[in-house]
Amino acid sequence: MRVFSGIQPTGAKHIGNYIGAMRQYVTTQDEGDAFFCIVDLHSITVDYDPRDLHDRTLDLAALLYAVGLDPDRCTLFLQSHVTAHAEAAWLLSAVTGFGQLGRMTQFKEKGEGKEFVSAGLFTYPVLMAGDILLYETDIVPIGDDQRQHLEIARDIGQRFNARYGETFKIPRGVYPTVGARIMDLQEPSNKMSTTGGTTQGTVLVLDEPDVIRKKFKTAVTDSEREIRYAPDEKPGVSNLIEIMSVAAGRPIPDVEQAYAGKGYGDLKGDVGEAVVDLFAPMQARYKELRADEGELRRLLRVGAEKARQTSAPTLEQMYERMGFVRP
Ligand code: TYM
Repeated sequence: MRVFSGIQPTGAKHIGNYIGAMRQYVTTQDEGDAFFCIVDLHSITVDYDPRDLHDRTLDLAALLYAVGLDPDRCTLFLQSHVTAHAEAAWLLSAVTGFGQLGRMTQFKEKGEGKEFVSAGLFTYPVLMAGDILLYETDIVPIGDDQRQHLEIARDIGQRFNARYGETFKIPRGVYPTVGARIMDLQEPSNKMSTTGGTTQGTVLVLDEPDVIRKKFKTAVTDSEREIRYAPDEKPGVSNLIEIMSVAAGRPIPDVEQAYAGKGYGDLKGDVGEAVVDLFAPMQARYKELRADEGELRRLLRVGAEKARQTSAPTLEQMYERMGFVRP
């Protein structure tokens, strides 16, 4: 079984990325032949600083190894190291509807009110479709916010297959049962995000322990003072229960039961501690790995070579089916 997922290097990685995505990467690397891609090409579709992109790319590689990706059990690589991704995006743009791209939530949200909206923000989903389709992917572990992107990738693959003959496997998205959509701790009706969310409500994987504790202590809940899991009615408390469930490795009903009759303060304090404990070993490994940039770059070169070999035959088939004269 082929596993593929991607994550953007810009923007500090938060507990939503960890719970919704990275945690699944770690488990799926043992369930199949897994490819994980740091999608640097996607990061240039909004305002960004080149120096920041550069450093954040290496930061993220170190972080992904630190959370548990093992270079011997999966392939981690940079999107820009494998030129097939940019080529596939261009070819797939021929079978992507302008109208469908315009209806994408991310395009509307990230473009709204901006003085300059890049063409890249608009074609973003085509590049992502190529990422996935090039690897004959069966499953794509992602958080809930990527659902629409996965759907359009499937549509694009199906349209290509219908027009040019069976070429792509049509992948399916895999979402965590708990924590597919982690909410901002200060504005629990919005998803946690470094672009749209609040600083105090966004818990970073690399936040200092005291910062993590404080962010949870000041989390917004509600006035009812009843600890109960009900995401629609009680988004703040339910979000804390989900985080607690993952950080402590306990099912949601267990967490609910453990706090029955207790106050919000108890839950907030305990979730903070559980998250500090969860991230502490990853933070220590991150520091070590990030210090050896030579080794990081070496691992990424090895990953890119494997990714090139795996994606090249699919790209070649695309060119051939589309009628190009090959060299
Ligand atoms: P990105 O970099 O925004 O997010 C990386 C992963 O983190 C998940 N995620 C969340 N999960 C739960 N709660 C949250 N608040 C939360 N915020 C983020 C995302 O769902 C994602 O799985 N377009 C993609 C990157 C991409 C990709 C791909 C993914 C490019 N090509 C191919 C899969 C396959 C993105 O911007 O993710």
